[in-house]
Amino acid sequence: MGKLSKYQAPSLKEARKRINKDTKHIYYELDKEYIGLGNGKTYLLKTYGCQGNLADSEKISGLLEAMGYTKATDDSESDVIIFNTCAIRENAENRVFGELGRIKSLKKARPGMIMALCGCMAQEEGIVEEIKKKYHQVDIVFGTHNIHMLPSYIASIYKRPSRIIDVYSFEGDIIENVPQIHDHPKKAWVNIMYGCDEFCTYCIVPYTRGKERSRLPKDIIDEVKDLIDKGYVEVTLLGQNVNAYGKDFLEKGYTFSNLLEDLALTGIKRIRFTTSHPRDLDDETIAVMGKYPNIMPHLHLPVQSGSNKILKKMNRKYTKEEYLEKVEKLRQSVPGISLTTDIIVAFPGETEEDFEATLDLVRKARFEGAYTFIYSPREGTPAATYENTLTPDEKKARLLKLNDLINEGFYEGNKRFEGEVVNVLVDGTSDKDPNMLTGYTPHEKVVNFPGSKDLIGKFVNVKIKKAYSWHLRGEIVENN
Ligand code: SAH
Ligand code: SF4
Ligand code: F3S
Repeated sequence: MGKLSKYQAPSLKEARKRINKDTKHIYYELDKEYIGLGNGKTYLLKTYGCQGNLADSEKISGLLEAMGYTKATDDSESDVIIFNTCAIRENAENRVFGELGRIKSLKKARPGMIMALCGCMAQEEGIVEEIKKKYHQVDIVFGTHNIHMLPSYIASIYKRPSRIIDVYSFEGDIIENVPQIHDHPKKAWVNIMYGCDEFCTYCIVPYTRGKERSRLPKDIIDEVKDLIDKGYVEVTLLGQNVNAYGKDFLEKGYTFSNLLEDLALTGIKRIRFTTSHPRDLDDETIAVMGKYPNIMPHLHLPVQSGSNKILKKMNRKYTKEEYLEKVEKLRQSVPGISLTTDIIVAFPGETEEDFEATLDLVRKARFEGAYTFIYSPREGTPAATYENTLTPDEKKARLLKLNDLINEGFYEGNKRFEGEVVNVLVDGTSDKDPNMLTGYTPHEKVVNFPGSKDLIGKFVNVKIKKAYSWHLRGEIVENN
């Protein structure tokens, strides 16, 4: 253990730089020498954070299964355990440290077990220092830019056990063709871009994920066509700011609205995309959303705050009024659209009046759901140096008050479907009742209804009998 010199450690300062506009596209192929290394062995993957991490985990599974590993059902019997981590808030990180502590004993019982940590926490120098010092059970730390190198790290440990810390804080390439095993048989995540150049002052993502870089349209369209051939019916396009798609191309002209239209024309049954940035969401995209019925009438449009002063301090580059104008355009182009959002409360300097402005915006925008958070300072970001005078109790009180309002909107958004017939893609059986099926509507509402398991993976029409706060309940009226 311990020889670190040949490996790289992360640097938040390096990760902030944006110099190189050109992106390298690397077409990956798994080296034959790694195939079979995992035969007869199992792996367990624990994923935290956003859909970007879920998609990355599917690639990690793809790589490991190509090496011969199979999925373990229990951590005590697995040969490789990987934590794909999130750094967005302090509590996300604390959860991972708790888990690392908990599984320390497993390693004692199974000394050959390999424990790896990757994802956004691996991109933070403070975290990696802490792992080096205190978490000796972790054998491999690798970052968000070098997932495809995992087979080589494992092979190296099998040859000669040693600790590997290999994290790049550079702007980032695009690695195509990494094998991916989709968790869902009918729905797939499709990355359309990586990284983020927005630098909202509270956010760690531009540091942990590198520069904004778009996949080539052909690579994305071919992937979606291939998914259709394999029987997938829904794709969710992923990027931290999908509306910036194509802005990094040296030859300008092809933007997110063009991509969305080209993908709608592939004929895939359902298209969703996340996340949209209110400033970059353009009229062309709003128009395309209204034109194609296979683009789902739901949009997650994080607003973060309703106070113009706070939005400015957050570097969000739009005002409350501009945001509401976009909402209006969306409602005109996509009648009945359901809107959801993200909101941060208790950002440094947020007064009672600023908070009231957020509540006012929530009422006006008529959100049908939101992820709400108490601001969490992230080391290395500008906002971490801003003074915050609110007490923990004041912060919590604001969150609770906001959540009450959001929950009202959630219920109202569900209630409008009572008596309606909605189209549901059946995901599986309900966790609470195995006789009930569950799935999502175009507006991304959860519907529970009685039905046979044969319908899993199919579309059914369901008449909504009753709306609850978090879901709808109905009965199948006809299959299609
Ligand atoms: N790219 C997306 C999502 C980023 S992370 C976007 O632009 O919205 C998801 C959400 O986490 C953000 O929308 C924000 O609401 C929240 N978030 C990010 N950094 C945070 C921080 N330091 N403290 C609290 N919440 C944060
Ligand atoms: Fe973070 Fe802002 Fe980028 Fe979203 S747009 S990932 S909040 S910096
Ligand atoms: Fe978390 Fe990284 Fe996603 S910080 S939210 S896993 S981009």
